[in-house]
Amino acid sequence: FVRGLATSAKQWSPIKTVTIIGSGLMGSGIAQVAASTGHKVTVVDQTQDIVDKASASIKKSLSRVVKKKFPDDPKAQQTYIADTMGHLTLQTDAVSAVKSADLVVEAIVENLDVKRKLFATLDEAAPQHTVFASNTSSIPIKDIAVATKRGDRFGGLHFFNPVPMMKLVEVIRIPETSEETYNALEAFGKAVGKKTVQCKDEKGFIVNRLLVPYMVESIRLAERGDASTRDIDVAMKLGAGYPMGPFELLDYVGLDTIKFILDGWHESDPTNPLFQPCESLNKLVKENKFGMKTGEGFYSYDK
Ligand code: 3HC
Repeated sequence: FVRGLATSAKQWSPIKTVTIIGSGLMGSGIAQVAASTGHKVTVVDQTQDIVDKASASIKKSLSRVVKKKFPDDPKAQQTYIADTMGHLTLQTDAVSAVKSADLVVEAIVENLDVKRKLFATLDEAAPQHTVFASNTSSIPIKDIAVATKRGDRFGGLHFFNPVPMMKLVEVIRIPETSEETYNALEAFGKAVGKKTVQCKDEKGFIVNRLLVPYMVESIRLAERGDASTRDIDVAMKLGAGYPMGPFELLDYVGLDTIKFILDGWHESDPTNPLFQPCESLNKLVKENKFGMKTGEGFYSYDK
């Protein structure tokens, strides 16, 4: 276990080798923080083109991190980036990638069948001791874990966007999760420099269960014409100390993601007033206006 990079990770963790399945925003971010704290990380996605893009986006994010971390030391900046990239392998074959993994973190599309298929395959290929975790924000962990024979070595690790900046990871246990597994997941969260909190396998865990209704309530407030989106954003930043206003955050996280989460909660708890469909959100998503990533959401962005 290479300790050299682990500036913020004084915590011992049994997890040394990590495989991340999915190289989108979350997968890349988790890979980045794991590699930069000395873990041996393999990132897997479907095509070479996708993993090449992930590698470029990790490098770009690292270059932002080092500017803050070593402001006047270009040599230290280069070393940190090179060391981190040296701990990363990007590939397209998931089966070979889990053969020596202590931990597998899944951060693929939010689709239960796809996740189950993936984990069933990985369950056959991974060593006995390997712990599995999902970064899902909307699917119950227990529903994914049933696809494997390792419920005792299964849990949730929920990171936040942007992963290199957000200091929290939620560690989720299902009834089957063993104490040893929970401790390993928690120790890994700490080893990548995050503060950990524990939560049961309930809708939205802690952060999204509070944040999603708050964002949707903000949209309803604007829909009623009580205040403009700009003023709501200014109000929550200056009046409540949030780093971003709710509309900035909606555009940042992605309106498609928020709609997906809300729709799922509404389906399983249709009478809950907090989970009722949201007209403006549905309209923007229908028009493929997902926020920053598509150049338009509640606000417009230069692409
Ligand atoms: N990689 C590396 N560094 C980054 C980064 C990234 N992806 N994003 C931001 N930074 C750092 C850089 O150092 C950057 O400086 P640079 O622009 O010169 O490179 C700096 O942050 C940006 O600083 P700013 O002054 O422009 O902005 P802030 O100080 O406001 O920080 C922020 C940006 C950390 C994103 C902050 O606005 C914030 O905390 N926003 C709230 C984010 C949030 O709530 N996330 C949770 C969303 S919910 C979620 O993820 C759950 C999911 O399941 C839906």
